[in-house]
Amino acid sequence: MEIAIAADHGGFQLKEKIRTHLYESGYAVKDFGCYSAETVDFPEYAAKVGYFVSEHGSLGVLCCGTGIGMSIAANKIDGVRAAVVSDTFSAMMTRRHNDSNVLCLGERVLGDSLALLLLDTWLEAEFEGGRHLTRLAKLTALETGGTK
Ligand code: RB5
Repeated sequence: MEIAIAADHGGFQLKEKIRTHLYESGYAVKDFGCYSAETVDFPEYAAKVGYFVSEHGSLGVLCCGTGIGMSIAANKIDGVRAAVVSDTFSAMMTRRHNDSNVLCLGERVLGDSLALLLLDTWLEAEFEGGRHLTRLAKLTALETGGTK
């Protein structure tokens, strides 16, 4: 599976480390930028990864200063379930229960080692299906104004 990654300037250094880590772990990586620490606007990069994940059914990782802006932006794209996490339990559970397909990490919040541990935990966890499928269907319905 090809994992899409992107960052703004606030997450650029972390995104670089994540790309290396993913390559070394055997993943194919599609890097949508940014490619320097020059100031950019995070919604543009969230969109690149969000549309790729939505269209290809793959996974994505977004980094910014806090992870929050990226998660807000990515979740506006149909088919994206983005989760910003800073603890391993949440990283695991957001795959198991929410089937999150985009992980958002904050470079200014996390140390590198914790960020990579969160990434590995998230990638290794599996969606449990079952009762959570009903909830996912209701999440998807929200994209078209359903379940009001
Ligand atoms: C950029 O300064 C910063 O606002 C951004 O990286 C992110 O933290 C937004 O949520």
